[in-house]
Amino acid sequence: MPHLSELHGAATHLAVVAIPLYAVVLVLRRIGIAPWLASAEPWVGAGAVVGIALAGLTGLLVRGEAQTTLRGGDLRIGTIHFWLGIVLALLVVAVVAWRSVRSRPPSIGLFGGAILALVLVFAQGYLGGRMTYQHAVGVFDGGQLSQSAAGAAQLDVAMSEGESPAIAGRVAFSSAGLGCARCHGDLAQGARGPRLAGGVDLEGFRGVHGHGLFPRRIVSDTDFRAIDAFLRTLRR
Ligand code: HEC
Repeated sequence: MPHLSELHGAATHLAVVAIPLYAVVLVLRRIGIAPWLASAEPWVGAGAVVGIALAGLTGLLVRGEAQTTLRGGDLRIGTIHFWLGIVLALLVVAVVAWRSVRSRPPSIGLFGGAILALVLVFAQGYLGGRMTYQHAVGVFDGGQLSQSAAGAAQLDVAMSEGESPAIAGRVAFSSAGLGCARCHGDLAQGARGPRLAGGVDLEGFRGVHGHGLFPRRIVSDTDFRAIDAFLRTLRR
């Protein structure tokens, strides 16, 4: 089921396409090499306005997600994204409105406005990407990482209750735990991911998974050693 942050992502892409396209049209018209673009310009301009309006409206709908996800000062990135969005919207509307009353080739000032809009689109995309990919704003139910957290907690409890690492590690490896088996096979025989039976080293694990599904803050070295103890019980 799509949720609101997906709508913001989808709606934003119209602006991401239309605003740079509009800037290109204005540049070409200023240089004067494509006179036929005169009839296309209003359509591309309208696309930019509709795009920025949809991006803005859906952005307002998902603002709460930034406020309830970014802890403390991390919200700053959301605030900058918000205000840049306002500036970009005003700029796009101003440029398109100015163009609609003056059909002569764009003046140098207007041309500058279009280039500024282009830069702001990239900045907005970068900040939005940071919020989503680095800080998980709008990631539904914690995404795949929620299984990592639940599986690691379960493993820590089993070990603190005195379970042997190999047995606790077997549960952690399975789809009921951290879910390694979903990609490496139930007996670590290899599937989408390589064969792990016989044991693996921590560097290999951190190198592939440490900045993704299994960050160190969730899966500790001790957790890893328990899983490795289980893998060592399997034939290489
Ligand atoms: C979503 C799928 C997926 C899950 C879940 C997953 N892995 Fe992997 N893993 C991979 C893939 C794919 C590779 C190979 C990546 C590469 O070679 O670039 C890999 C590579 C590895 C490697 C490096 C192997 C080598 O030979 O260098 C280790 C170690 C590893 N995984 C351990 C684990 C452990 C332990 C778990 C569970 C805590 C786990 N993986 C869960 C997909 C997964």
